[in-house]
Amino acid sequence: MSSEIVLSASGISKSYKSELSESRLQVLEDVSLTINKGVITSIVGSSGSGKSTLLHILGGLDKADKGEVIWKGRSLSEFNSDQLADFRNKNIGFVFQFHHLLPEFTALENVSMPALIAGESIDKASKRAIELLDRFGIADRKHHRPSQLSGGEQQRVSMARALMNNPGLILADEPTGNLDDVNTGIILDMLFELRDQFGVSVLLITHEPEIAKRSDVIMEIKNGKLNPL
Ligand SMILES: Nc1ncnc2c1ncn2[C@@H]1O[C@H](COP(=O)(O)OP(=O)(O)O)[C@@H](O)[C@H]1O
Ligand SMILES: [Mg+2]
Repeated sequence: MSSEIVLSASGISKSYKSELSESRLQVLEDVSLTINKGVITSIVGSSGSGKSTLLHILGGLDKADKGEVIWKGRSLSEFNSDQLADFRNKNIGFVFQFHHLLPEFTALENVSMPALIAGESIDKASKRAIELLDRFGIADRKHHRPSQLSGGEQQRVSMARALMNNPGLILADEPTGNLDDVNTGIILDMLFELRDQFGVSVLLITHEPEIAKRSDVIMEIKNGKLNPL
């Protein structure tokens, strides 16, 4: 296992205004975490325990009340919103439980999008997008829109999109929560393959003990705290 640190978070706290009372709902309290290169980390925890909140903060989609997220030695709090968007697009592959594909675009266009946003030419982006779709066994669906794809195919397209810019870190929020066993297997095998082949780090939120068991590190969020399981 490499000890190169890809991302670290320290002292992360986050609360939300409670709808029912004056007090705030403390979701995360002084959470610290280090993600090393090539390591697959699973986070488990009951529904509402703050897993998605943590993932969003780590990926720069949301801000903590307190604490810092450090990416390759730089705090995300130093980034303005354009820099943050650029950082996310180039370095982090997000995979959500629901695919979040753009409905009016084809699979090929959806997968190409992150590279086009990063300034890549259409030709180059399309070539790589087709290679990725092919890796997931869905190159023949490249001109289909999300609504014309099955749930498993949609999730494979969103994995391909997440990988488009060769991210060093994949943040996956219950990526197989809606999938059958076959598609779950395809998505998970791909995460492990990426790690083995390219040293990609993966932080994975999951409810499934089987998946957690395969990962290198398992952490649990409980009562706002993150601890090794
Ligand atoms: N934007 C928000 N405003 C208010 N409360 C929120 C918001 N986002 C999440 N919460 C609350 O914070 C808690 C943790 O949510 P979340 O991180 O989505 O949990 P998990 O992913 O573990 O199910 C839940 O009680 C949820 O209702
Ligand atoms: Mg969640």
